[in-house]
Amino acid sequence: MQDYQKQRATVLQILEDHQSMPGNLLPILHGIQDTLGYIHPSAIADIASALHLSKAEVHGVVTFYHYFRQTPPGQHTIRICRAESCQSMNSKGLEAHAKQTLGIDFHETTADGRFSLEPVYCLGNCACSPAMTIDDEVHGRVSPEKFDQLIASKGAE
Ligand code: FES
Repeated sequence: MQDYQKQRATVLQILEDHQSMPGNLLPILHGIQDTLGYIHPSAIADIASALHLSKAEVHGVVTFYHYFRQTPPGQHTIRICRAESCQSMNSKGLEAHAKQTLGIDFHETTADGRFSLEPVYCLGNCACSPAMTIDDEVHGRVSPEKFDQLIASKGAE
């Protein structure tokens, strides 16, 4: 994991930018993750101090929402849809295949740092269920074979 000192100026700037905004904790957490890719555990103390909250309160919010990461993401983030339409088209089978192929569970990153796997709840691509994304690309009707091809194409980059 990167040294927090390298990220700290960015975190402090985001805190300053949101200082006067009511209900600013979630926008701050999103801002940090969007900018740095994750929320470094050492950032919790800075956030708590800026917002006059306890570290436990900030940590509680970060861990409550699975969307927030506390470790760096892989080079590519795969999101598999778990919502109703995709479930009816065997997204569970796709999920199991992805976990087995990558050797990781949801919210984990492969040991080589290439792929992170996350669940998502509807990508607006229900007509082409089961759906998933790799980074910003949306893919539909993803069979295990198609999943393997998509992963291989990213592995070759
Ligand atoms: S339910 Fe999966 S894309 Fe809508």
